[in-house]
Amino acid sequence: MRHAIEVRGLVKAFGDVRALDGVDLTAPAGSVLGVLGPNGAGKTTAVRILSTLTHPDAGTARVLGLDVVAKADEVRDRIGLTGQYAGLDENLTGEQNLVLIARLLGASRPQAKARAAELLERFDLVHAASRPAGKYSGGMRRRLDLAASVVRRPEVLFLDEPTTGLDPKSRGGLWDVVRDLVAEGTTVLLTTQYLEEADQLADSIAVIDAGRVIASGAPAELKRMVGGLVLRMRPVRPEALPQLVVLADGTIGAAAKIEEGEAVVPVAHAGEATAVMSRVTQAGVDLASFGLDEPTLDEVFLTLTGHRAESNDEKEEVAA
Ligand SMILES: Nc1ncnc2c1ncn2[C@@H]1O[C@H](COP(=O)(O)OP(=O)(O)OP(=O)(O)O)[C@@H](O)[C@H]1O
Ligand SMILES: [Mg+2]
Repeated sequence: MRHAIEVRGLVKAFGDVRALDGVDLTAPAGSVLGVLGPNGAGKTTAVRILSTLTHPDAGTARVLGLDVVAKADEVRDRIGLTGQYAGLDENLTGEQNLVLIARLLGASRPQAKARAAELLERFDLVHAASRPAGKYSGGMRRRLDLAASVVRRPEVLFLDEPTTGLDPKSRGGLWDVVRDLVAEGTTVLLTTQYLEEADQLADSIAVIDAGRVIASGAPAELKRMVGGLVLRMRPVRPEALPQLVVLADGTIGAAAKIEEGEAVVPVAHAGEATAVMSRVTQAGVDLASFGLDEPTLDEVFLTLTGHRAESNDEKEEVAA
């Protein structure tokens, strides 16, 4: 099947900041592409170009086979975007906002009311339907914004950090809604700083940092790229932690660390974990628990970029 999103060599500079420095992205129709990166990586800039709000300086971007610069109007008719695009009216109620958007898109009054009711139900906003949008909480507002962006059932939906700042329940609810849309055939490009979110939703992930794609692939492929497994051991007596580290290092030459009451040992395969465990048993160290884990995407990110995805300290860029 044709790619719903195809980006080649995209460049966008603001003064001497190269927000995008030759980005390639592809998403097959009906898939979820996660674009993962820290503050200032270029995520919003990429979404703004793909949704026709900004022009690239170089490179090409096609959505549904249409060039986003040459065919901007056609692209706009077929996509949804959360954020500024939807243009919610603070004084209108949630329901009135959705009805108005549906009417602007050409629906009859009964059709518009039916679509609004359906969306309010789906986004868990029925109880707030007759409250002005300006009085919604952050999470409700985010859901109304998403509802507004799908009034027209977009073929491609762009979600720029849809769950930043939401509580875990609202975040899970939003993930469900995204999964429903994908099940109906919508292609989704989702930017996020949350590795778990990309892991949960995305079929493939592009990790971007400083305007470049530094890694891409399915979540499992990215994890494999970093390689290895992690053996975690929690001793009955916390004083035994340094001894566990010494035993692990002595057995397989691993660079073991202590993290939150556990000895964390990177191992290349399960056999190394077994070797460490039998050495620990011989030494007579009692373990309260142990386990063998795949690396988390957080560890993947750290390995690839040298800094953590959710750390905002090093950069001072203002979100666009
Ligand atoms: N309109 C603009 N004018 C000047 N610089 C900009 C503009 N928009 C973005 N930038 C710069 O481009 C770079 C990428 O910004 P962008 O907003 O795309 O990052 P982001 O990945 O979306 O970050 P965040 O996670 O903070 O939303 C940053 O250095 C930013 O300061
Ligand atoms: Mg952004």
